[in-house]
Amino acid sequence: MKTAILALALATAAFGQEDNSTNSSSMSLTAVLGANPQLSSLLGLLQPYQQNFASLNNITLLAPNNDAISQFLNSSTGAAVGTQPALVQAILNYHVLQGNYSNITNTSFVPTELRMGAYANVTGGQRVMALPGMNVTFFSGLLQNSSVVNASIPFESGTIHVIDRLLTIPQNISATGVALNLTSAVGALQNTSLTQAVDTTPDLTFFIPNNAAFQRIGGNLANLSTADLAGILQYHVVPGQVLYSTNITMMNGSSIGTLSQGNNLTLRIEGNDVYVNQARVITPNVLVRNGVVHVIDRVLNPMNSTAAPNTADTSATEQAFPSASSAETEPFTSGVATPTSSVATDAVSSAEASATATSSEGGAWRPMETGAMGMAALFGGAAAVFNM
Ligand SMILES: *[C@@H]1O[C@H](CO)[C@@H](O)[C@H](O)[C@H]1NC(C)=O
Ligand SMILES: *[C@@H]1O[C@H](CO)[C@@H](O)[C@H](O)[C@H]1NC(C)=O
Ligand SMILES: *[C@@H]1O[C@H](CO)[C@@H](O)[C@H](O)[C@H]1NC(C)=O
Ligand SMILES: *[C@@H]1O[C@H](CO)[C@@H](O)[C@H](O)[C@H]1NC(C)=O
Ligand SMILES: *[C@@H]1O[C@H](CO)[C@@H](O)[C@H](O)[C@H]1NC(C)=O
Ligand SMILES: *[C@@H]1O[C@H](CO)[C@@H](O)[C@H](O)[C@H]1NC(C)=O
Ligand SMILES: *[C@@H]1O[C@H](CO)[C@@H](O)[C@H](O)[C@H]1NC(C)=O
Ligand SMILES: *[C@@H]1O[C@H](CO)[C@@H](O)[C@H](O)[C@H]1NC(C)=O
Ligand SMILES: *[C@@H]1O[C@H](CO)[C@@H](O)[C@H](O)[C@H]1NC(C)=O
Ligand SMILES: *[C@@H]1O[C@H](CO)[C@@H](O)[C@H](O)[C@H]1NC(C)=O
Ligand SMILES: *[C@@H]1O[C@H](CO)[C@@H](O)[C@H](O)[C@H]1NC(C)=O
Ligand SMILES: *[C@@H]1O[C@H](CO)[C@@H](O)[C@H](O)[C@H]1NC(C)=O
Repeated sequence: MKTAILALALATAAFGQEDNSTNSSSMSLTAVLGANPQLSSLLGLLQPYQQNFASLNNITLLAPNNDAISQFLNSSTGAAVGTQPALVQAILNYHVLQGNYSNITNTSFVPTELRMGAYANVTGGQRVMALPGMNVTFFSGLLQNSSVVNASIPFESGTIHVIDRLLTIPQNISATGVALNLTSAVGALQNTSLTQAVDTTPDLTFFIPNNAAFQRIGGNLANLSTADLAGILQYHVVPGQVLYSTNITMMNGSSIGTLSQGNNLTLRIEGNDVYVNQARVITPNVLVRNGVVHVIDRVLNPMNSTAAPNTADTSATEQAFPSASSAETEPFTSGVATPTSSVATDAVSSAEASATATSSEGGAWRPMETGAMGMAALFGGAAAVFNM
């Protein structure tokens, strides 16, 4: 059943189908939305929040078209979200970029009007990743992607790009970890009581090893004290700096501080690949509520900060643990929620293919198109949304 707010929104949507042949650059937001039949649902959705939007200037609105909105409303998550005005407002704010981007030509992490608060803990506003291409693609939380289907419509305060899917508000690290099937890391955080700290500390970069990485050294992990395991996890977290791929690309050879005091990480670019110590980034730029996650293929060792990629054979990433021994099963996963439908972190994406021509960045830096998660996973699913 649709909620009161959204039902009302859609009922009030059908006004002002103006002739749109005039130059829209001096028209108000509502006038431009009203002139475009594909945006009538969004116009309705915005009505209760009009005051908030009227005061914004120098902005870019990523405007979900009617299909995008009805697809969302048709999901159980969409219906549930509609009962919460603050969440609807947050979702709308996330679709507003700070700045007038009429033409997106570079991969960038653009600050939005989803400011620090209950739904974001990133200084300057939560980011959305913009990927240029034949059709610009925006990546939001849980690696979800939205494509521009009608670009660069001017209005009095900036520019509108029509998109085919709602953006997903980035979730906290543990909910994102479950959705991405990073269950060993999620379990290790629980075992060391670090979950709350990594979920609620603002402005983090977290290099999260995948399950296979933990399993490869499962024999070593089995003998660790809780304090040692905590030290290893803290070594994967860069506090106070949200480092997206665009930042790291310019930091080849840099040493960066971690939560494991006194133990730094080294970033390296080798061809198209990015390494942190000896580990290779396999899924970059997963936006989370308080920063960004990059998935890596090895566990980092704070006692071996000189570990480096094998430059003779970068595909043979090294272990940083002495005489590493594997485990039969994935460590720390017992008791961790399993994803209902996992984000395909290894899928080759059409966005990637279309971006190849325009992006100067290496292969490891392009996000993966998913679509695999389904609508129930949007906004992290009801569980993640309602537990905050
Ligand atoms: C639309 O009007 C603005 C001034 O209001 C002008 O700068 C712009 O060139 C016009 N665009 C077109 C396509 O006529
Ligand atoms: C005008 O209408 C056409 C066709 O309906 C649409 O493609 C275009 O985006 C609209 N332009 C504006 C400024 O609303
Ligand atoms: C809504 O979802 C149901 C089941 O998921 C599907 O059968 C139906 O076609 C959808 N309706 C619309 C309008 O998308
Ligand atoms: C528009 O916003 C962008 C991004 O916040 C800022 O860099 C730029 O200076 C602003 N321009 C104007 C005219 O305010
Ligand atoms: C967008 O930018 C590119 C590169 O700067 C330029 O070639 C193109 O003409 C621009 N498109 C528009 C619509 O301004
Ligand atoms: C790309 O954009 C064009 C209009 O610029 C639109 O007609 C087309 O449907 C878009 N393609 C995709 C895959 O969204
Ligand atoms: C947004 O940028 C476009 C392209 O540079 C420009 O024509 C337009 O006037 C700008 N709009 C505002 C409100 O600054
Ligand atoms: C944001 O960070 C503050 C610490 O500065 C923390 O107290 C708060 O719980 C965090 N909020 C969220 C939504 O994570
Ligand atoms: C990342 O790059 C952006 C854009 O260049 C910059 O504004 C930001 O300060 C950088 N972040 C860090 C932590 O260096
Ligand atoms: C560790 O990283 C910080 C920056 O994050 C840097 O200032 C410091 O010099 C580094 N320490 C070493 C030993 O490289
Ligand atoms: C440190 O890591 C490197 C991999 O870069 C590995 O070859 C070396 O054996 C490790 N050292 C120890 C003491 O485990
Ligand atoms: C999660 O990953 C493990 C291997 O690490 C795999 O066995 C399992 O099928 C994955 N689950 C999903 C839902 O993809």
